[in-house]
Amino acid sequence: MDIHFENRRIVVTGAARGIGQGIARAFAERGGTVFACDLLADELAALARSVAPARGGRIETRAVDLTDGQAVAGFVAEAGADGPVDVLVTVAGGVRGQVPRPIEAVDEDSWRAIYDANVMTAFHAAKAVVPGMKAAGRGRIVTISSGAGLRPSMTGIQSYCSSKHAVVGLSRQLAHELGPFGITVNSIAPGFLRTSPDYERQWDGYGPAGQQALVERIAMRRLGQPEDIAWATLFLASDYASWITGQVLPVSGNPFP
Ligand SMILES: NC(=O)c1ccc[n+]([C@@H]2O[C@H](COP(=O)([O-])OP(=O)(O)OC[C@H]3O[C@@H](n4cnc5c(N)ncnc54)[C@H](O)[C@@H]3O)[C@@H](O)[C@H]2O)c1
Repeated sequence: MDIHFENRRIVVTGAARGIGQGIARAFAERGGTVFACDLLADELAALARSVAPARGGRIETRAVDLTDGQAVAGFVAEAGADGPVDVLVTVAGGVRGQVPRPIEAVDEDSWRAIYDANVMTAFHAAKAVVPGMKAAGRGRIVTISSGAGLRPSMTGIQSYCSSKHAVVGLSRQLAHELGPFGITVNSIAPGFLRTSPDYERQWDGYGPAGQQALVERIAMRRLGQPEDIAWATLFLASDYASWITGQVLPVSGNPFP
């Protein structure tokens, strides 16, 4: 199976680091024209400098706040200037620097910050790409949810768990709505990866014994890497996955999310 994306336009949100960066890189290395966005301009610039596009691929990066619907529409219009966006991968999200607290101590602003980062970003991005995909009669949307979208979250953060369940719900609903237009919508639910300061803090919090126990609970006996998530994304975004939609794929090294 030779998966490549020559002459395909791919939008990746939350691409500055970790999983999103791995996904943006993987598409550009396989011929894709990648439009990568994030809040973090410096990290995006470093990504653009370090990617080695192949098969005619390239990468454009833009600093965009994906909670701003108008900004997202402008970014997607730019990405689709020469033809519709073929693939959207929504990665933006995360716990936004928050730590677990008892529910009675969670304020509304903290709750909304995580919900906005994970759900509103995906909503805005999907809304912006769909008209072009409908006109083209084809498209691929892959959302990055989490094991926390299918069960309680290891982070212990209620709004994170709720928002990832919402991302799964959004993906399933859009699959139902957009299938008649040739557009598939699937979600990948990653297991634990040490990708960013938030996840490093979580990892440190487990201590050496907890870290060892976590790895021993994983059937494959290792933590995930961004490439593990990128490879699953490439498949779901490819022509080989044209009859798969509305599915949530755990990529966790385990037989469970
Ligand atoms: N690392 C893990 O263990 C893990 C596990 C399951 C799911 N995930 C999910 O994978 C995704 C990527 O996470 P990661 O591990 O690479 O690290 P991360 O959580 O730091 O990545 C999230 C990215 O989204 C960006 N972002 C957040 N809000 C944004 C906004 N409003 N506009 C633009 N960009 C915004 C951040 O700047 C960051 O680069 C997240 O959605 C996260 O919830 C991560």
